Amino acid sequence: MKEDWLQKRAIAQVEEAKRKLGDELLILAHHYQRDEVVRWADFRGDSLELSRRAAATHARYIVFCGVRFMAETAAILAQPAQQVFTPRPDAGCFLADQARIEQVQSAWKALTRGIDASRGLVPITYVNSDAEIKAFVGQHGGAMCTSANAGKVLAWALRKYPRVLFLPDQHLGHNAAYQEGIVDKEILFWDPRFPPSDIGPFHRARLILWRGACNVHVRFLPTDVQHVREKYPEVKVIVHPECREDVVSLADEMGSTSYIIRAIRESPPGSVWAVGTEEHLVARLRAENPEKKILSLKDPPPYCIGMSLTRATDLAHVLTSLVKGRETGVVKVPEKVAAPAHVALNRMLEITG
Ligand code: 13P
Ligand code: SF4
Repeated sequence: MKEDWLQKRAIAQVEEAKRKLGDELLILAHHYQRDEVVRWADFRGDSLELSRRAAATHARYIVFCGVRFMAETAAILAQPAQQVFTPRPDAGCFLADQARIEQVQSAWKALTRGIDASRGLVPITYVNSDAEIKAFVGQHGGAMCTSANAGKVLAWALRKYPRVLFLPDQHLGHNAAYQEGIVDKEILFWDPRFPPSDIGPFHRARLILWRGACNVHVRFLPTDVQHVREKYPEVKVIVHPECREDVVSLADEMGSTSYIIRAIRESPPGSVWAVGTEEHLVARLRAENPEKKILSLKDPPPYCIGMSLTRATDLAHVLTSLVKGRETGVVKVPEKVAAPAHVALNRMLEITG
């Protein structure tokens, strides 16, 4: 009852704030956000689309509904007259939290000690990482990537440098490597919790993958693909590239969240899909494609805790504060971090167009 009342009040507050703030306000939301939040977004997308949209807007206030690294990315791209807000400053990403700047600095030291330019190393970071790590990557000649362009960015790095350090998602890096024809014997894994005592093999590896993973996407297993194929022989399995390589290799398609949405939307009526990604998106796909059968690849389906935190009431709180001239949930990246992080981001946009 109380929940209903709070929701109704939040809806009225968001409507009023949107009306009052008009073009000064842009609400961005990631596809994993709850329906009660996504319905208010001026734009929803995958990480690449959201960063492009944040970079292109002239709105004075950008309210980002997603997890912290996404809002930080928007803040890195923001013009001096723009401000970025998050309704839930505590919404983190499990994957991003697995690479700390101190760990990356110490790995870098070990991997580059006594090495001449012929074995030069370049870092690539997935957007799901702290701003400090993006800055480190920008300072060391590397680029950022997203799930939509990891293969292209990795190919660029491998063309230019003998060795690549890919942070922080081992599975995205591994799947992108396979796409680019890199074989397992050229790949080594760097586990920040157990740095190796013998660094020699790392000087010879072509690709070094940071041992991080998303706790949502690693829940999908090869047996899930086998089971769904047994039950629905006509099923098409589509997964996100943060899934394990042995799951991706059994799937029919792999792509970013927006790629998954498009593939399902464009499929003929009667299609059957098993989707290996976060449940809020899968449930929305089911509702938006009633003439198709949309299943989660896993039962029970996994959901992202960080993404689930934002409620309509949190969005209403940020917006009503703004209307009253108060700033709640401001996201700021210090200039000395934002400038080199911007370099890594721009490099990605240059590589991928
Ligand atoms: P996308 O960029 O594909 O939307 O992925 C973001 C993410 O966090 C997936 O877990
Ligand atoms: Fe991070 Fe995984 Fe959540 Fe995506 S689904 S935001 S990678 S924890």
